[in-house]
Amino acid sequence: MPLAALTAWQTLVDTAHVRAGQRVLITAAAGGVGHFTVQFARHLGAHVIATAGAARHAWLKELGADETIDYTTTRFEDAVSGVDVVIDLVGDAHDRTGTRSLKTLRRGGLLVAVPAGVSPELAHAAEAAGVRVTPYLVEPDGAALATIAGLIDAGKVTVEVEETFPLEQAGAAHARVEAGRTRGKIVLTVAD
Ligand SMILES: NC(=O)c1ccc[n+]([C@@H]2O[C@H](COP(=O)([O-])OP(=O)(O)OC[C@H]3O[C@@H](n4cnc5c(N)ncnc54)[C@H](OP(=O)(O)O)[C@@H]3O)[C@@H](O)[C@H]2O)c1
Repeated sequence: MPLAALTAWQTLVDTAHVRAGQRVLITAAAGGVGHFTVQFARHLGAHVIATAGAARHAWLKELGADETIDYTTTRFEDAVSGVDVVIDLVGDAHDRTGTRSLKTLRRGGLLVAVPAGVSPELAHAAEAAGVRVTPYLVEPDGAALATIAGLIDAGKVTVEVEETFPLEQAGAAHARVEAGRTRGKIVLTVAD
């Protein structure tokens, strides 16, 4: 929670100042950060557009996505426009999602480049497109964590744990995460 949920919260609330009615595009929406971002964006009253493999679409709609895009068959920039805020959780290093997402933004819209910051090329492309781009780095924030915990305790936000490993199998857990297909989070348990 202090990493994944706080990242989701800070990108939407503190960095992008998302308001009700805004259109928010979230890439890698089914992952650890993504599934919180979908739920918080919905909680803020945004129109949520989520990219994920088709097997995750029904679940993401339960979490609050209004639209889902299968990134394995559809280029999201061909399907979405007029977006106010992009929370990019894939990044230019993998699928060039940062640069590609600039096309989906309305003039003056904001891309929050979460995985690897903003390269000079990305900054230049954003300026040329008339949109904004910002890097992001998670910071400790006890007050925000308390707010998030309240939402979870109230049943308004759920924490998805795809699989649990004992600590002795930490290597297998890492391999699982590195495959890049995680639904929600992977948990390591420590024996008493
Ligand atoms: N800047 C910061 O402070 C900060 C903080 C936290 C995290 N991060 C970064 O944020 C990124 C996301 O972290 P995470 O923990 O959420 O990752 P994760 O849980 O490992 O993400 C896994 C998800 O990514 C999806 N995915 C993979 N490639 C995709 C693509 N091309 N398009 C759409 N979805 C795709 C997969 O969906 P399918 O299974 O459907 O394929 C899977 O559900 C990482 O790069 C992480 O390092 C940065």
